[in-house]
Amino acid sequence: MKSYQMLIDGEWVAAGSGKSFDVVNPATTEVMAKCPEAGAADVDLAVKAARRAFESGWRDVTGQERGRILLRLAEKMRKELPRLAEIETRNSGKPIVESEYDLTDVATCFEYYGGLATKLHGEVLNVPDNAISMALREPLGVAGQIIPWNYPLLMAAWKLAPAICAGCTMVIKPAEQTPLSLLEFARFFEEAGLPKGVVNVVTGFGETGAAIVSHADVDKIAFTGSMEVGKIIMRNSAETLKKVSLELGGKSPNIFFADADFEAAVDGALFGVFINQGEVCSAGSRVLVERPIYKKMLDAMIEKAKTIKLGDGMDRATKMGPVVSKEQLERVLKYQEIGKQEAKLGTGGGRPADAALQKGYFVQPTIFYDVANSARIAREEIFGPVMAVIPFDNEAEALKIANDTPFGLAAAVWSRDIFKCMRMVKRIQAGIVWVNHMQPTYVEAPWGGYKMSGVGRELGPWGAEEYMQVKQVHINLNETPIGWY
Ligand code: NAI
Ligand code: MG
Repeated sequence: MKSYQMLIDGEWVAAGSGKSFDVVNPATTEVMAKCPEAGAADVDLAVKAARRAFESGWRDVTGQERGRILLRLAEKMRKELPRLAEIETRNSGKPIVESEYDLTDVATCFEYYGGLATKLHGEVLNVPDNAISMALREPLGVAGQIIPWNYPLLMAAWKLAPAICAGCTMVIKPAEQTPLSLLEFARFFEEAGLPKGVVNVVTGFGETGAAIVSHADVDKIAFTGSMEVGKIIMRNSAETLKKVSLELGGKSPNIFFADADFEAAVDGALFGVFINQGEVCSAGSRVLVERPIYKKMLDAMIEKAKTIKLGDGMDRATKMGPVVSKEQLERVLKYQEIGKQEAKLGTGGGRPADAALQKGYFVQPTIFYDVANSARIAREEIFGPVMAVIPFDNEAEALKIANDTPFGLAAAVWSRDIFKCMRMVKRIQAGIVWVNHMQPTYVEAPWGGYKMSGVGRELGPWGAEEYMQVKQVHINLNETPIGWY
């Protein structure tokens, strides 16, 4: 079993307290590694290193040089992809094919921001005076980044790459369940030319994250995770008035009109909620189906869901791995029991019977139908392979149900009628709307939520903007007194 260290100021170190915690393979429940449990004192060392790195030179490193570092990180990622994908799968449970996609996206993310680093610029403003007015864009300073376990290295990349691009330094904490891929990736930093202290990686639980949030010398927090913790982070950031960006999941509607391509609809509904074991912030966990195709589509989804192959993610035939942890397994099983009280069970509803799947945290792909939108399984984020199917009669009703949720991360609409699709696109309250697809995600396009799904945007130029602040500069060109007094 491997004992990992964390990265503070370019050095691999244990926690000051000597404390560590176990990292588990969710497919086997075996302990696969130990990681340091960082306390407030370790976090303080990491923040001080990040501040020193920022002030002592990183803030003046050119965009060209930051871009080259990002491109070298992408290159390292592509070269080491098979090894890191295996670690990602063994640690998170996700099928190896999905880990390979995720880590390819990690490389693409570093490439995108490597290119963007030379394209960030300010503006010259047309003010009504004999003056030059400018808006400069400057890095925010030290960022704290708190990462979830569902896309361990990809969610880290979405935060690291734009922050490096913008010229910030940072302290990043992976989720306690899945720290390994980021710790492995951090080995590339030095070789890629990243100066020590620019990126510090601390490992630990929620308390470690809380120590980053409350640290007075952290300028910004970027968080992806639960709505509950998002609220705590916003509250705890108030004391030091940090900038905050939050990406907090949802209860996204996947809406199927009767005129949608039927085969594509069945496939898209299953993919929307069962990919990555349903542990997806934008999961299409509410499937809204128009009455004329309701029964036919439900039957087809149930039949196909039963064929989804569960297994160890390292098996290339696996389509669904275990959920990430015992805690998450219990959460999903609890919601399956709630669902049985609230709605009708189409398929699944518990743990698989297969003897080979008893040890890991496996749970059946589950479909509930005739679900009322007021039911808990339609309102609360489950973050597991649980679909709630809800019928509707017309466009107005679909829209009403879709928007009747505290969340607003994503939505999808399926129909061959472009007019209907565009009317829905305009009225849906969500940060991401797909038409005739669900889940494709591109580093070029903005990612983030309306309503209680979050604050701010990741990816694209929006992602870098979150790590910058704007300075107004006014240059008076008159060489005479103002003449007021
Ligand atoms: P969580 O929100 O507790 O954990 C996410 C990250 O926040 C982890 O790195 C954790 O150590 C850290 N954290 C926890 N408490 C903190 C605090 N007080 N201050 C600062 N950092 C803190 O998520 P958890 O408990 O693992 O999962 C619970 C539910 O959250 C899931 O069932 C799912 O509904 C949702 N979730 C949503 C995600 C998304 O992508 N939007 C990702 C992970 C979970
Ligand atoms: Mg939690």
